[in-house]
Amino acid sequence: MPYAHITGWGMAVPEAVLTNDDLSKIVDTNDAWIRERTGIRERRVARENEFPSTLGVEASFKALQVANVRPTDLDLIICTTSSPEYIFPATACLIQDQLGATKAGAFDLLAACTGFIFAMNMAAQAIRSGSIKTALVVGSETLSRFIDWKDRTTCILFGDGAGAFVLQASDKPGGVLSAVMHSDGSGGDSLSLPGGGSRFPATEATVHEGKHYIQMDGKEVFRFATRVMASATQEAVDAAGLTLDQIRWIVPHQANIRIIDAAARGLKLPMERFVVNIDRYGNTSTASIPIAMVEAVEKGQIQAGDKLVMVGFGAGLTWGALAAEWTGPIPSKGHIRPEQYRLFGRLRSLVRRTIRFIEGLLYRREL
Ligand SMILES: CC(C)(COP(=O)(O)OP(=O)(O)OC[C@H]1O[C@@H](n2cnc3c(N)ncnc32)[C@H](O)[C@@H]1OP(=O)(O)O)[C@@H](O)C(=O)NCCC(=O)NCCS
Repeated sequence: MPYAHITGWGMAVPEAVLTNDDLSKIVDTNDAWIRERTGIRERRVARENEFPSTLGVEASFKALQVANVRPTDLDLIICTTSSPEYIFPATACLIQDQLGATKAGAFDLLAACTGFIFAMNMAAQAIRSGSIKTALVVGSETLSRFIDWKDRTTCILFGDGAGAFVLQASDKPGGVLSAVMHSDGSGGDSLSLPGGGSRFPATEATVHEGKHYIQMDGKEVFRFATRVMASATQEAVDAAGLTLDQIRWIVPHQANIRIIDAAARGLKLPMERFVVNIDRYGNTSTASIPIAMVEAVEKGQIQAGDKLVMVGFGAGLTWGALAAEWTGPIPSKGHIRPEQYRLFGRLRSLVRRTIRFIEGLLYRREL
């Protein structure tokens, strides 16, 4: 049975930084409160021309370059996002088109902030089963578009960004070792975006009632998160046949430093074993785990041979954890040039659209 190795990684965040001081000019809050209660100092906010697909494509090209994998070699693209560009088409298809990933099936997976864990598990299982060889998992969010900037209990928390991993089949043991996925829909009300779906399609009333903004019972989510982070981590470690002392790094969803701290206490592990970058990005939802991973790898914290656990929780409610052995890129010849594929992707898309247009004209003439 092939193993599913993480062989490429990349991240992309908007340039625009929104600090706590900036927020204190919009709502009744202050830097000291936000830092003490959440650990966040600043977050990135997408500009008008930045979307989950554009951030996702940037992160993906970087991941493909690290793995030295051509977009045309991808069999599968899963984009996990709670702020999809449209209800359909899937953001994954927009990314597939912009990458020029001609062979890949592409779909979105929505498990809120736990999405990256669920998507990684799905991609790894597809590789383990032998049905595919190469997958791209992208976590990308522009949740800032769904935030009520008058609501100080939510607008301080979230930020935008994207992270992407390439997974490849290899006979060498390692890569994704285990994963656990959990859901409890009875807690769906505690964190939701009610408007814009088929229950509350956009109307004047839904806009007026604020149904298109994130709604959250912060205390309830906090209690739930502190309950599940340690237990999910332990479950993934047990499922991998490992013990906690063999785990070099825990990469938690970056929602609140106090939640990460509670998980560390629950697992009786020092905070130094946790990868934390919440201070600079806030909660980027499903992108937070890959962004934290990419930074830790690039800083040389996570190294080949390290065993680690990614653990997350979010709306749904959902929670889960994934244990992996970090290996790095599979040695290969030549170097892919993202710029070449970016151009190829654009040209291919244009040609496909033109062919579709001509086909439409011919079809009309035939009728
Ligand atoms: C939202 C959250 C930061 C609030 O922190 P908290 O310690 O629970 O704060 P509370 O809601 O008890 O509020 C304490 C006080 O601060 C005030 N407050 C709330 N937000 C504030 C802000 N941004 N700035 C200043 N004061 C604020 C409250 O009004 C309250 O004042 P009061 O005591 O006079 O009533 C915290 O509950 C949390 O992180 N929850 C989890 C959210 C989450 O992770 N969501 C995403 C999941 S993926």
